[in-house]
Amino acid sequence: MKKLLSILALVTACFGGTAAVAAEGGYPLEPAPVNTTDLFSLQRGAKLFVNYCLNCHGASMMRYNRLRDIGLTEDQIRENLLFTGDKVGDVMTVAMRSKDAKEWFGVAPPDLSVISRARGDAWLYTYLRTFYRDDTRATGWNNLVFPNVGMPHVLWELQGQRAAKFVEQEEHGQKVHKFVGFEQITPGQLSSVEYDGAVADLVAYLDWMGEPAQNQRRRLGVWVLLFLGVFTFLAWRLNASYWKDIK
Ligand code: HEC
Repeated sequence: MKKLLSILALVTACFGGTAAVAAEGGYPLEPAPVNTTDLFSLQRGAKLFVNYCLNCHGASMMRYNRLRDIGLTEDQIRENLLFTGDKVGDVMTVAMRSKDAKEWFGVAPPDLSVISRARGDAWLYTYLRTFYRDDTRATGWNNLVFPNVGMPHVLWELQGQRAAKFVEQEEHGQKVHKFVGFEQITPGQLSSVEYDGAVADLVAYLDWMGEPAQNQRRRLGVWVLLFLGVFTFLAWRLNASYWKDIK
């Protein structure tokens, strides 16, 4: 009985543990409500990405014309998403030189092609929603998931400016700053529900970009399983009929 209980405890530790993942900042990650088969959501995400992220980050594994996979035509891509004189067949590079970026931000902004696989959707979703004003930082911004991040809050006009409230607390004999809530300083162009939706679109796009073939792969997977099922059945019946007279 005792052994069984300890096995059970181990199993819950393995599987239950993922529910309470926290980032470096200690702030709990929120699951991202993304749907990478929703083409309109991906299109909105692509637009946000091109408008707000490509100034600093590149996506060197992504070609603009791959955006046809999320339902855009080449004309739409050319008219809405190409700014810097890029061609539709080009990869999403960044205009800024990485040496300049390093000087301006202290760190070079990483390429975001496969960021969702490195960080996970929940991390990205929470990260992009937990910037707050901090005058002690060079950029004027800080983040709950990525403390002292070198990136400013580029979506602040959409979300508005927020301050974070902390209290000092004793935990295990150590003083820690505990986050207790946000305070809205200036309103954003979007309501908080709309902002969460926009970030979900953006994260869906980042997820899709990490593996643009993921929808085809899943569709194909269903056919492969179906084929295997039918094939197994046939093999079983064939085997039975071969051996019928021998028994
Ligand atoms: C003004 C330049 C700038 C813009 C615009 C910008 N970023 Fe960043 N970003 C940075 C810098 C600099 C870092 C590196 C921060 C560090 O390591 O402290 C960074 C880091 C990140 C990271 C963390 C990478 C990691 O795992 O270490 C993510 C994710 C990210 N940016 C996403 C975005 C998204 C999504 C957008 C568009 C909404 C965006 N960024 C727009 C400058 C920028």
